[in-house]
Amino acid sequence: MNKLPDFPWDRLEPYKKRALAHPGGIVDLSIGTPVDPVPRLVQDALAQAANSPGYPLTHGTKALREAAAGWLRRRHGVTVDQQDVLPLIGSKEFVAWLPTYLGAGRVVFPELAYPTYDVGARLAGAVGTASDSTVALGPERVDLLWVNSPGNPTGRVLPAEHLRKIVSWARERGTIVASDECYIELGWEERPISILHPDVCGGSHEGLLAVHSLSKRSNLAGYRAGFVTGDPVLVKRLLETRKHAGMIMPQPAQAAMTAALGDDAHADHQRELYSARRTLLRPALEKAGWSIDHSTAGLYFWASNGQNAWDQVAKLSEIGILVAPGEFYGSAGGQHIRIALTASDERIDAAVRRLQ
Ligand SMILES: Cc1ncc(COP(=O)(O)O)c(C=O)c1O
Repeated sequence: MNKLPDFPWDRLEPYKKRALAHPGGIVDLSIGTPVDPVPRLVQDALAQAANSPGYPLTHGTKALREAAAGWLRRRHGVTVDQQDVLPLIGSKEFVAWLPTYLGAGRVVFPELAYPTYDVGARLAGAVGTASDSTVALGPERVDLLWVNSPGNPTGRVLPAEHLRKIVSWARERGTIVASDECYIELGWEERPISILHPDVCGGSHEGLLAVHSLSKRSNLAGYRAGFVTGDPVLVKRLLETRKHAGMIMPQPAQAAMTAALGDDAHADHQRELYSARRTLLRPALEKAGWSIDHSTAGLYFWASNGQNAWDQVAKLSEIGILVAPGEFYGSAGGQHIRIALTASDERIDAAVRRLQ
């Protein structure tokens, strides 16, 4: 294992203190943790499965796998066999351990990215490279390539054409592509497409994995609920390893996730909440001197007023608004901040008033 980085959020503490001191209270737009309620039908499914004395299956129930396959078909035009779905205890654990499962020696992830891709490479003792260009990677073998669309932190969507190029590049080299699609339901000005969509992969899932999360779609971050699917051979291998390692999703969480994947109404409602918050917050930020880059999908605004990221964090903390500095996501983020939409309507209103 390579040395792990310091936990970046600790560095935000002084700014959090300053924001907390605002007479109207803090508006915390930093971490991006859901604040709206867990849908009633999901809570009920969890409660009904409370009496679960036996060990659950690492592969999950057939009902769960079918619900995941059904959701992918219904909402994203992706066809997978239910056997090829593997539940995750939230997608973060999988992001962190995939390079180890694969015995990867070299892992590539986006230049501006969720930090756990890098952590995963380090845990595996692999070489981690942040790069958005396959050309720049040279001839050296790449075992695993991460893509993330819509992306965290930038809210950028990778078009089908771009994903197609990555898939064919990877297939020529025997590189596995893992596509983190945890924000796929949150397309605003652009519609994200899965790597497993036939327009991208040509119908074969060979060498491809798509990772999904219920955290943002269904406010299930507290339940820890996600799944991976894709190449049947790879999924089978991952299942065997996870069985040995005890990476088992609790049975009540499986029941809750099954209910969540079977229902679109709550996800549509949640989308509308985020859409309304975006509509309020964006012009307020722009009037206050920030420009918004990318951010056509996902849960964040990737914003800059041209200053150093930490100065922007400090400035907003003076009016009680806490945001994340772009450099948490890579050195290219030094002049940006990431602003999450995960605050109540009341808190978003407060932020809008303060920005005026
Ligand atoms: C890009 C990305 N991937 C994965 C995760 C992990 O989500 P979870 O573990 O809640 O499924 C996050 C969380 O914010 C994320 O931003």
